[in-house]
Amino acid sequence: MRILLAGGAGYIGSHTAVCLLQAGHDVTIVDNYANSCPEAVRRIEQIAGRKADCFQADVKDRDTLLRIFREKPVDCVIHLAGLKAVGESVRNPIEYYRNNIDTTLSLLEVMRETGVHDFVFSSSATVYGEENPIPYLETMKKGSCSSPYGWTKSMMEQILTDAAAADPELSVVLLRYFNPIGAHPSGLIGEDPQGIPNNLMPYIAQVAVGRREHLTIFGDDYDTPDGTCRRDYIHVCDLAEGHRLAVEYAHEHRGVEIFNLGTGKPCSVLELVHAFEEASGVSIPYVIGPRRDGDLPQFWANADKARAVLGWQAGRGIGEMCRDTWNWQKNNPEGYRGGRI
Ligand code: NAD
Ligand code: UD1
Repeated sequence: MRILLAGGAGYIGSHTAVCLLQAGHDVTIVDNYANSCPEAVRRIEQIAGRKADCFQADVKDRDTLLRIFREKPVDCVIHLAGLKAVGESVRNPIEYYRNNIDTTLSLLEVMRETGVHDFVFSSSATVYGEENPIPYLETMKKGSCSSPYGWTKSMMEQILTDAAAADPELSVVLLRYFNPIGAHPSGLIGEDPQGIPNNLMPYIAQVAVGRREHLTIFGDDYDTPDGTCRRDYIHVCDLAEGHRLAVEYAHEHRGVEIFNLGTGKPCSVLELVHAFEEASGVSIPYVIGPRRDGDLPQFWANADKARAVLGWQAGRGIGEMCRDTWNWQKNNPEGYRGGRI
C-alpha cells in the first residue's frame, strides 16, 4: 500500500515511517517542518534502506495536498500533523484550533476528491478528561479536556466520526496514544523538542546529557504509591507497530474504531527517573517543585481491545524505553541540529 504520513518527519511519524517502509509499504511524507527537519527524513531512509517520497508542505493547504495526492496516489492517510505543546495551546488557542482542525478538514476534503477512504488518526489519552475512572477504556464517554490542545483532539475525533457516519465508504481508526517515549534502537531517530522540553522523558534525557542542570518533579504529594504522578509510558517503536496494524485494519473495515495504545502498566515519575539512571549509568539530579496545572494524578490504558482486535501488544518494557532514549540522546546531544551521524 502507499501510505501518506501527514507530519511524518516528526517524532512518532519518523518511527512509523521506518516501520511501514520495513514492512514493504510505500510512504509519502508531507510535513512543513514546523517541529521537525529534513535530516529526520534522511535518517528514516538510512534505517529503512529505502526512499520515502517527501513533500515540504502545509497540510492545511488543500491545493498543494490535492497535487500531492494526484502525483502519488494514496491508499491510506495517517494524520500525525499537529501542534502538541499543552502550555502553548493555552496561550495561543487560535493557532492550535486553526492548525489542528484545518489540517484534518483539508485531508478529508482531498481524500473525498481523490477517492481515498482509509484514515488513521493520532489522538490522545487526554480525551478521557478528568471524569473517567482508571484504567481508561475505549467505551467510556470522552471527558473535559484540560487544554485547547486536548480539545482539538476531542473535536477532531468528533469531526472524523461525523464524516464516517455520512460516508459509508470511509474507514476511520482513532488511535489514543498514552505516553510515547524511547527511540529507534539505531540511535538515528528520536524525540527532538525545540527549546525547553515540556514532557518528562526528553527533560530527563537532556539533564543526563548535560544540557539542563536538574529535573524538577512537579509534585510529590499526590495520592499515589510514591506521591509522584503515574503514567502509561509506551515505547515509540511499539506505537509505530500499532499504526501498521491500524492501517491494515482500516483497509479491511468501514466505519469508526477506537484503540488505546498503551502498555496497561503505570509508572511513576520517580520510577522513571530511577529506571533511566539504571539504563544509562548517569545520575539525574532532581528537586521537588509544585504541582503543574492541569496534571492528573494518574492514568493508564486498558489495552485489551488493541490486543484482541489488532493483535497488537506493547512488548518493550521501561528499561528498553530508557536505554533507547539514552542511546539517541547521547549520540545526538543537540538532536538533529548536530547534523549527520
Ligand atoms: P511532532 O511535533 O514531533 O510531529 C508532528 C509533525 O507535524 C511535525 O513534524 C510538524 O512539523 C508537523 N506539522 C505540524 N503542523 C503541520 C502542518 N500544518 N502541515 C504540515 N506538517 C505539520 O509530534 P509527535 O510527538 O510526533 O506527535 C504526532 C501526533 O501525535 C500529533 O498530532 C500529536 O498531537 C499526537 N500525540 C502525541 C503524543 C506525544 O506524547 N508525543 C501523545 C498523544 C498524541
Ligand atoms: C502531557 C500533556 C498531555 C499530552 C501528553 C503527551 C499536560 C498537562 N498534559 O501529559 O495533554 O497528551 O503530555 O504529549 O501537559 N513531569 C515532571 N517534570 C517535568 C515534566 C513532567 O515532574 O519536567 C511530570 C508531570 O507532572 C507528569 C509526568 O511527569 O506527572 C509526565 O508528564 P508529561 O511527559 O508532560 O506527560 P503528561 O503529563 O501525561
